[in-house]
This record gives sequence, structure tokens and C-alpha cells, in this order.
Amino acid sequence: MMKCISCGEEYEIDEIIYTCKKCDSTLEVVSSHPDISKDIFSCRKSTMWKYKEFLPVDETKIVSLEEGGTPFCKCDKLGSELGIDLYVKVEGSNPTGSFKDRGMSVGMTKAVELGVNTVGCASTGNTSASLAAYAARAGKRCIVLLPAGKVALGKLAQAMFHGAEVISIRGNFDEALETVTSLALEGQLYLLNSVNPYRLEGQKTIGFEIVDDLGWKSPDRIVLPVGNAGNISAIWKGIKEFHEAGFMDDLPMMTGIQAEMSAPITNAVRQGKNTIEPVKDPETIATAIRIGAPVSAQKALRAIYESNGYADTVTDDEILSAQKLLARKEGIGVEPASAASIAGLLKMVESGEVDKGEQVVCIVTGHLLKDPNTAIDACVEPLEIDADVKTLSKIINKQ
Ligand code: F0G
Repeated sequence: MMKCISCGEEYEIDEIIYTCKKCDSTLEVVSSHPDISKDIFSCRKSTMWKYKEFLPVDETKIVSLEEGGTPFCKCDKLGSELGIDLYVKVEGSNPTGSFKDRGMSVGMTKAVELGVNTVGCASTGNTSASLAAYAARAGKRCIVLLPAGKVALGKLAQAMFHGAEVISIRGNFDEALETVTSLALEGQLYLLNSVNPYRLEGQKTIGFEIVDDLGWKSPDRIVLPVGNAGNISAIWKGIKEFHEAGFMDDLPMMTGIQAEMSAPITNAVRQGKNTIEPVKDPETIATAIRIGAPVSAQKALRAIYESNGYADTVTDDEILSAQKLLARKEGIGVEPASAASIAGLLKMVESGEVDKGEQVVCIVTGHLLKDPNTAIDACVEPLEIDADVKTLSKIINKQ
């Protein structure tokens, strides 16, 4: 069943509904815990469907591009400089280059189960790229709304190339989401933004994989960028499910990082509040998290408070320098929003929020090539020369 996270109202698993009819809060899927041993996972192929007993959809209808099973890189160089045990979970290695594929696989499977013909979303880019690909795979009509001029090039190219009907909205993500939600409530499309609780069911597998990768242990802390606040909520749900299943003993501190000018959740945490004050004109170079009114704010705040976690902000400059640091020191190329987790980590080590020796997992959510313009702008142009060995030799020996 689905259950309202505020008033506890229950809904049938197949009802097409996104928020509570009684109190308008978000919903979550509640399933009974499978009575299985964690040993069954080890012989299965390394995709997120490895944990299928925890994914509440019909196994015969799965729409998948073999998402999940992403790299879990130990980053000793950066970690030792910071005095911590650092791992980076590289979600850019998913089929369309971001973590959204996990949620979309479960969400699109649900769309197939429900028999809907048209799916849609509003997006800062990655959700639309992912939805377009999974809609193509499932043979569904796909409509995506994007904030005009604020979507990174790679994401726009993906959404268009996979055949979505792409519409630019004169307004920001929050306004685009409000518009597409109204259309969904009229029954014109099945909404696959993260307000749809099935999206979060897929994304909770990031939590499963981290625990599995660490040998059925929790790290001390999980750090990730927060925009619409679905992912932090999903990962916490996954962690709690494995904890309740008895697969692990400890729990991590869930730590969300937002861009300074788009930080309603961090603002609420700093004031110890349970609700957010939306940011009217959010701004940041990390366009993926340029969001002022996150729909999953309540779930995210619960995740942070329940886990004894933390929230912080980073500036655009801090994001860009962390993006470069991770690329050049560890070889991991991520888009700006993803680098917010690394930028936040650096800040929290400096401030003493992160203790020496802590085991920290940073989730980097999207691939470097999602936003090629920002990457190119951060570098100097290549030198152009004739194909002449003497000139080449002169140049490389000068440097
Ligand atoms: N990182 C990247 C690369 C994202 O694309 C997003 C969200 C986030 C982090 C934040 O995750 O919303 O679950 O808190 N992108 C959405 C989109 C909003 O439309 O692609 P969140």
C-alpha cells in the first residue's frame, strides 16, 4: 500500500495518486519485509534488480537498462589529505549518466503495470533524459517540461534524442513542476517526478548497494547533493529497510548539501524546523539542483533529523573547484551538482563537523559530460599546431 507520511492515510497500491487527498503531504510505499537471507544477493548480476524482493513491482513487467551496480571507488589520495576514509559512489555510470535511472526503472515498470500510455515530468535535465530513455524502452509517449535556458546541454540532447516531446517553460523548475503536476492530476499523463513514490523505491537501492559494498556495514556518513530532495529521502528509506531486515547494525548520518542560493532544506535544518520556507528565485551554476521548493522536503528533513545528520551549503566557486579536484586527483568526472557533495565534505572537514577518521561515502549523482559547457569553460583551449614533431617536442618540453 501507499501511506501518507504526515497523517498516515492509506491508499491502494494501484491508485494513481501523488499526494495525500486529506492533507496534501507526500506518500510512501509501505511493503512487508521479505523474509530472506542477504546471502541470496551475492550470486546475482550486479544491477539494482539484485535486490528485487525489496522492489514493489511485478517482476514479469520490469523495464530495465541494467541500472545500478555502479562503481564504489575508494579515494585514498583525497581521503588521506582530509584524514578520513573516503568512498565515492559514481552514479554517473548508470545507463543515461545519472542516478535517476534507478527510480525511472521502477517508475516505468509501474507505468506498464498501470497500463498508462503517456508519461511526463518537469526536470532540471537528468530526470527528463532518463524518462525519455525508459519511455522509449517501454514504448510510451513522453512529455517533458524544462526551465528554458537552464538545462545543461548533454541532458537536453538526451531527452530530445530519445524522442521525448520537449517543452521549454518560461520559468524555473518549481513552476514547471507545478504545471506538469496539474496536467497529471487531470489524468493527461502519468507523472514520473520523484513526488511519485515509486521513483524513490528505485533510488533507495543506492543505500542497499553502499551497505552491500561495505560488507554489510553502514558508513559513518553519507553525503549527497539535495535539490528536489527525493534522493536523500530514498536512500534513507533503503538504509532503514536493510537495517530492519537485520542486514546491518549501525546507521549513517544523512548529510545533504545544497547550493548557497538554493538552500531551503539547509535553512530549515539550521533553524531546527520541520517545514521549509521556499526560496523564490533559486540560483546556482549547478543547474540540476537549482530548486527552491523541493517536493520531498518533509521526507528529507525527517531523514536528516532521524539519522542525526546534517545539512550545509556551498558556493558556486566551491562547487567548481571541488569538481576539478575530484577529476584531477581521483579521475572521477562529475557534473557540478554532483561535486556539491565533495565541496560540502571539504567544508565540513574544515569546520570540524566531519571527524578525523570518519568513514564517509560521497554520492556523485551525474556524469561530467552532462554539462560539457561548464567543463570546457573551466579549462584553457588546446594549442593548435601543425603536425610537426619538432614543434610538438618544443611545446611539450617547455611545460
Ligand atoms: N544531482 C543531480 C545530478 C541531479 O540531477 C539532481 C536532481 C540532484 C542531484 C538532486 O536530487 O532532486 O533527488 O534531491 N535532478 C532533478 C532533475 C531535479 O530534474 O533531473 P534530488
